[in-house]
Amino acid sequence: MLMDPSTTSSSRLYYAMIACIAPRPIAWVSTISGKGVTNLAPFSFFNGVASEPPTLLFCPGFKDDGTPKDTLRNIEETREFVVNVVPYSLAQAMNATSASLDHGISEFETCGIESAPGMKVRPPRVAKSPVHFECKLYDLIRVGSGNIVIGEILLIDIDDSVLDAKGKPDPEKLDLIGRMGGATYSRTTGRFDLRRPD
Ligand SMILES: Cc1cc2nc3c(=O)[nH]c(=O)nc-3n(C[C@H](O)[C@H](O)[C@H](O)COP(=O)(O)O)c2cc1C
Repeated sequence: MLMDPSTTSSSRLYYAMIACIAPRPIAWVSTISGKGVTNLAPFSFFNGVASEPPTLLFCPGFKDDGTPKDTLRNIEETREFVVNVVPYSLAQAMNATSASLDHGISEFETCGIESAPGMKVRPPRVAKSPVHFECKLYDLIRVGSGNIVIGEILLIDIDDSVLDAKGKPDPEKLDLIGRMGGATYSRTTGRFDLRRPD
């Protein structure tokens, strides 16, 4: 099958992209509005950028009415966010926070998700997530119907319970999930090692 963007609807392109760019890590992003209302939502167009300066990116789009998703709106207002990672144990909670709620209603409260204060930023963390990336906005790039939010990582807080004996994050203990197409997710339990060529 060939898909030429000039003759293919954006919704078909979207479904091909989310099914074939997979599995994707999930940034569970907490933010706070200028009025102090917290927000939490998952984004799987997400990855790291550089380690100097330590940066990551994720891509929030727009709501059906064309206005920015609350996460994007809050970051434009307050320029800070936390990326919380998603282990299998938090999959249901993460999914619940993808509901489209009115701006000004917090998913932390509506979905009953325990928060913890940020250390270097104002948005709260998801208390039960084992890794928190506290970020300030580095750059925001509009790309048609999408946006690239680049965050400079001010702090990475990794819970000791997911470290191995050498103090490194242990994939088995992290038990992170990935998003595939549609409603399908993957677990990271079927792993294998490959040595890099010299
Ligand atoms: C696993 C998962 C990944 C998602 N990834 C994205 C994404 O990369 N970009 C996006 O705009 N929406 C994505 N969504 C949809 C948003 O989470 C959803 O629109 C949410 O309501 C946005 O919340 P907000 O308006 O509070 O920011 C994803 C949803 C799920 C469940």
